[in-house]
Amino acid sequence: MAEIGIDVKYAAKLLRKGKLVAIPTETVYGLAANAMDEDAVVKIFEAKNRPRFNPLILHVSSVDKIELYAKLFFPLAKKLAEKFMPGPLTLLLPKKEIVSDLVTSGNSTVAIRVPNHKLTIDLLNEINFPLVAPSANPFGYVSPTSAEHVQKQLGNKIEYILDGGECAVGIESTIVGFDENGNPAMYRQGGISEEEIEKICGIKVLKIISEENSPSVPGMLKSHYSPETNFIIGNIDELIKLYSDKKIGILSFDKSHLASNSIMSLVLSEKSNLNEAAKNLFSFLRILDEANLDVILAEYVPDKGIGKAINDRLKRAAEKN
Ligand code: TXA
Ligand code: MG
Repeated sequence: MAEIGIDVKYAAKLLRKGKLVAIPTETVYGLAANAMDEDAVVKIFEAKNRPRFNPLILHVSSVDKIELYAKLFFPLAKKLAEKFMPGPLTLLLPKKEIVSDLVTSGNSTVAIRVPNHKLTIDLLNEINFPLVAPSANPFGYVSPTSAEHVQKQLGNKIEYILDGGECAVGIESTIVGFDENGNPAMYRQGGISEEEIEKICGIKVLKIISEENSPSVPGMLKSHYSPETNFIIGNIDELIKLYSDKKIGILSFDKSHLASNSIMSLVLSEKSNLNEAAKNLFSFLRILDEANLDVILAEYVPDKGIGKAINDRLKRAAEKN
């Protein structure tokens, strides 16, 4: 089992030695390694059982570090960085030579973000290298939003988990890339909404997000964020009737649905608040997945703002491998 604590200096020491450390961010917990140490980076792919073609995000302490690793910082990228960093935004920018192909899976772009969590910023200020950090879950499973989630699934593969409490946003960063003219494109819905991105850019963003099993953006794999339990989305009242002979769990947006055969009914936000729903999503999915159910019945949330990212994760959770 990993040790859990808040010792930033100890975490820094382990990272300097090429070891893996789980770190808190405002989105989800990351499994971090020294981005400049290829042997350390390889350990991430191994611990997560993650295919090597799935590139990693570089985490830096402040916006002024971005140009150490990106050779172009498009004007709109800069504008987004000034507005949303530190925060749940990742920018895809043409990479400098110094960034290993192992980090970018051979892509010419590198994903960079500035996490908004005090412990992790303190940690980044303690070391003199950036961190690569994918979500700290086995590949394809639900992302962790607490130190306990990380302990349960990867505790035997790492020595230390930096405990920053529950993640405030609860869903991964929004990934924005750029075409050769510097026009923005959405690669992943996340903590910053598409509407907010468009407002700052003053133009519509292109959509790169596809339903295909695109090797360059495996966070976008059709089946991802998946619980082990059969997971079905639709009209909950109708689904309850359909599964009347099963042990069911219910994950609804703002109203609870009572059924005689329901073991558990979790409401993402009784106040119909999408931010609260995002914060609860992954931990509620885990609770339901661990409750020994035949099936989990869920519904989409309103498809606006961060609701788009929630619906994206729900949809992928429901896809079969
Ligand atoms: O909120 C987050 O972004 C969290 C926290 C820990 O920072 N990290 C995270 O990492 O979600 P991960 O590895 O689970 O997802 C990163 C996504 C993947 O879908 C990956 O394919 C995409 O970013 N990505 C990274 N570098 C890329 C690149 N050069 N081109 C295209 N996609 C890239
Ligand atoms: Mg992930």
